[in-house]
Amino acid sequence: MIEITEPMLDGLRESVLSRLSAKRFRHTVAVEQMVVRLCELYCPDQTARLRAAALLHDLTKELTPAEQESLCASLGLPVSPQDRLAPKTFHARTAAALIPEEFPEFADHVIVSAVRWHTTGRREMTLTEKLLYLADYIDESRSFENCVLLRRYFWGAGPQELTPERREALLRDTLILSYDMTIRDLLSEHAPVAEETIEARNELLLEAAQA
Ligand SMILES: [Fe+2]
Ligand SMILES: [Fe+2]
Repeated sequence: MIEITEPMLDGLRESVLSRLSAKRFRHTVAVEQMVVRLCELYCPDQTARLRAAALLHDLTKELTPAEQESLCASLGLPVSPQDRLAPKTFHARTAAALIPEEFPEFADHVIVSAVRWHTTGRREMTLTEKLLYLADYIDESRSFENCVLLRRYFWGAGPQELTPERREALLRDTLILSYDMTIRDLLSEHAPVAEETIEARNELLLEAAQA
């Protein structure tokens, strides 16, 4: 397990700054701040790892679909016709694959998998994957209606005051709501919905029903 220090995070923030637009960098730093708040509630020992994951999560978000494809080719990632229909999901795969190549000091499985699954979610998500996914949705830089709604839903429930069981349930229900909103948006755009997103939502609905 790697040790992540404050100077390492400062260095990472600097190099990410040089690769992203001002707007994307603002979002990235806001996600870092949000994972700190979420880790405090759920897993303080994972804070440094998730801060690194937050800084890395959108590293390739601003590449064009053509650039994503050539990056996939150079990283040995397969590209299916289905992937081409949903170009927004490329960046999670390419960013995750770039970590061991370009930032080997952060190539920890918690960091890489949180980055890998931050866009679509998946079945059997780990807690740290869920927290980066959620932080990316509700970070304070976001003003889209759905993001504001989800942020209010989560923090409005007063997670600090809840028992660990209720807090787990709040995370689950917040994620279900996020998938509902994402899927609804994709439907209205006639865009494909990632199978992983459907599976993640169905799994959490089942968990909620059995709770
Ligand atoms: Fe992203
Ligand atoms: Fe993001």
